Formats: sequence, C-alpha cells, structure tokens
Amino acid sequence: MRDELAYRLPKAELHVHAEACLEPELLLQIAERNGHDLPYASIDEVRRAYEWSDLGAFLDLYYRHIEVLRTETDFRQLVESYMSHAAEQGVRHVEMFFDPQAHTRRGVPLATVVDGLAAGLDSGAREHGISGALIACFIRELGVESAQETLAELAELPAFERIVGIGLDSIEEGFPPPLFAPLYAQARALGLLGVIHAGEAGPGENVGLALSVLGVERIDHGVRCGDDAASIAALRERGTALTVCPLSNVRIGMYETLADHPVAQLLRDGLEVTINSDGPAYFGGYIADNWVAVQRQFDLDVDDLVTLARRSIAVSFATAERKAQLL
Ligand code: ADE
Ligand code: ZN
Repeated sequence: MRDELAYRLPKAELHVHAEACLEPELLLQIAERNGHDLPYASIDEVRRAYEWSDLGAFLDLYYRHIEVLRTETDFRQLVESYMSHAAEQGVRHVEMFFDPQAHTRRGVPLATVVDGLAAGLDSGAREHGISGALIACFIRELGVESAQETLAELAELPAFERIVGIGLDSIEEGFPPPLFAPLYAQARALGLLGVIHAGEAGPGENVGLALSVLGVERIDHGVRCGDDAASIAALRERGTALTVCPLSNVRIGMYETLADHPVAQLLRDGLEVTINSDGPAYFGGYIADNWVAVQRQFDLDVDDLVTLARRSIAVSFATAERKAQLL
C-alpha cells in the first residue's frame, strides 16, 4: 500500500541529469544510428560495465557514453525515454539537468542540444501532462571561465527561455563553491536561479559556502552537511531544500548500503529533504523506486510520503500557477 502510494503521489523531480537517462537499449540504438563504435556486443555487456568504485570512475563511463549523442533527435529521445518512465512514477513536474560543455567540447552545437531537450520536454507535456524546465549544469573541473563563456552562449539561443537555472556538477573535491561566484552572479543577471552539487563527494562545509557565497536556492545531494554545524545552521535558517539521491549515493560508493545513508536522519532533523533519482539509467531506479527503497529501509509512513510529495512541488521552480495545480 505504501509502495503504491510512493508511485502514485503527484511529485516533482528536481535532481535528474538528462544524460544519465541513457538506458542501455537507447545507448545502443543511438550509437548504431550515428555509426558510433561502442565496446559492447549486447545489452548485458553494457549493464556489466555499470560497476564503479567511486564518483570519478562513474563519471568516466558517463562521459564516454554521452559521446553517442549527436543530433537533436538523440536529445529529444533521451528526454522522451525519461518522461515515459517518469509518468509511471507519479512525476508531474521535472527540472532536468544537462551538461552543455559535455557536448560543446565534442563539437555538438549548443542549439542542437537545447532544442532537442526542449522538444523532449514538449513531448512530456503533450503525452503525459508533465511540466518541465532545464537547468544547465557546468562541469566544475573545466573552470569558471569555460562555464561563463558557455552560459553567455546559452543566453543567445532562442530556447534559452526553457532554462530556469544553473548548477555545478562533476568533480567536487578541489573546486570549492567560492571559485564560481562570478558564474552565479552572471546567472542572476540573466534572471536564472541557482543550484549546486555540494556535500556529495566533497566536504559538508561546501553546503554552507554555497549558501553564503553563491546564494543558491537549492543544494543537490548535500548529504554530508551533517559533518558541518555551520552548514546545518544555514540550511535551517534559510529553509533551503536538499535534492537527495539515495540509490545514486550507494551505487557510487559513498555509503556501503542504504542502511548507512543519512537520509532518514536528515528527515528527522527537519531539513527540507526531497528524494530524487540523479541518473535512473545508471543508479538502479527512477524517482519512486528511490522513495520505495527509502520507505522500506527506514519505515517511512504515509504522512512522510505525502510530505515528500508536497515538498517536492513546493520547492520546485515551477510557476505559482503550476504549483497551485499540483498541490
Ligand atoms: N554528473 C552526473 N551525475 C553526477 C553526480 N552524481 N555527481 C556529480 N556530477 C554528476
Ligand atoms: Zn547529480
């Protein structure tokens, strides 16, 4: 009954990377269409490749698979594939990350990427009634200047209006939030909101720094915030939401098992926790699969699930009108 509720409750997904929605079947299909050689003879071989020791090893494979994506159709199909799964998981609104630099550095034009993703969002709205927007994530290890140049190029696109915010992802350690203050200032000036992967593989103090220096609206992951009292205090004071992705954290090796994951503690501490998938094709589940895993592990009750659902919508960047429809 609670499992069924986890799937059925209308919810927003706030932490999912478009490129991490590339299911093995779609990966092989697109690679074949684009004449891109992959070292796999079967779906099973692809699945066997999905084993990593840490975030770096995951990212290596993820960026290698991204190379199959070349055309607007590829990007549209990626989002459409996500949407058909998301509809079955009760998703009614999605804010989807994408990594523009992962494509431009291979020579794929930004317009191809954003137009394709936007067409996928349109299909999701038409076929499943799921509203959606994009969040451009920048690859931290490419530095602040590359991110700023890419953001300026995005702002020139006709489809720029589909982008509601910016984020930072990829390698966290060694790239503390303050390095990116000029990027977040540029984004604000363009009318965009800010999120950031922080306190995932990097220290918990990155959460507090992201709030105080960058002024972000949400923290992605943030699961290590418990290591830093100032970060916890800042989250509480501002009521900032965390987009936690439990199955991802376990698959990437941050925690040995789900039982070791701090999500239940963060919920008990009264933080604004949301539960999301991060990369459903890579981490063993879509959003409601994550909810069910957490509910079973930590015995969440009906009220907890209803709170998660309502909060996901409340802390989304959807318009007030859309929120009123969903709440
Ligand atoms: N890019 C895609 N998934 C990511 C994750 N879990 N952490 C950092 N960067 C990512
Ligand atoms: Zn992520």
